[in-house]
Amino acid sequence: MCAKIARGQKLRFQNPALTPALVNAVLEQLLVDRHCIHGLAHWQRVERNGLYLAQATGADADVVSFFALFHDACREDDGHDPGHGARGAKLARRFAEKGRLPLDEAQMDALCTACAGHTDGQRSADTLVGCCWDADRLDLMRLRMEPQPRFMSTKPAQELAATGAFHKLDGYRHPRFGR
Ligand SMILES: [Fe+2]
Ligand SMILES: [Fe+2]
Repeated sequence: MCAKIARGQKLRFQNPALTPALVNAVLEQLLVDRHCIHGLAHWQRVERNGLYLAQATGADADVVSFFALFHDACREDDGHDPGHGARGAKLARRFAEKGRLPLDEAQMDALCTACAGHTDGQRSADTLVGCCWDADRLDLMRLRMEPQPRFMSTKPAQELAATGAFHKLDGYRHPRFGR
């Protein structure tokens, strides 16, 4: 059973390519409660974290935003559920085939690699995939677990975890998407 948090939260993400219609379409196929610990508010924080890392590393902000939307969108429960990353990648492909994602082939490949692999607990030498995975792990604070530098792929995430300076993420907005 999901812990209920933040009822009535908005559908808004920083990246306007994640339109309310698209977010709603993803939520409509969701099998878990959108308010659970891996639900919408988590996706929005993963986007914020990922965009912080994207700005620091120069990684592709669009892929990071779409990772936030899809990575936990195919959970069957709110626990470990090891297959949900691969299912999230398939869901992203289905949306892309219908022309609903403004991403090119290379971006789709990166998005699907990041979604499919985020459940394996690995680190990545690929900066973009690493930004996605670190963005997810930096949100462990919601489970009262301190993110650890050794589990982070990117330098800025390692620094945040090593110094405990997570306040830098509070209210962060990527300059491309303004206020
Ligand atoms: Fe996940
Ligand atoms: Fe997640």
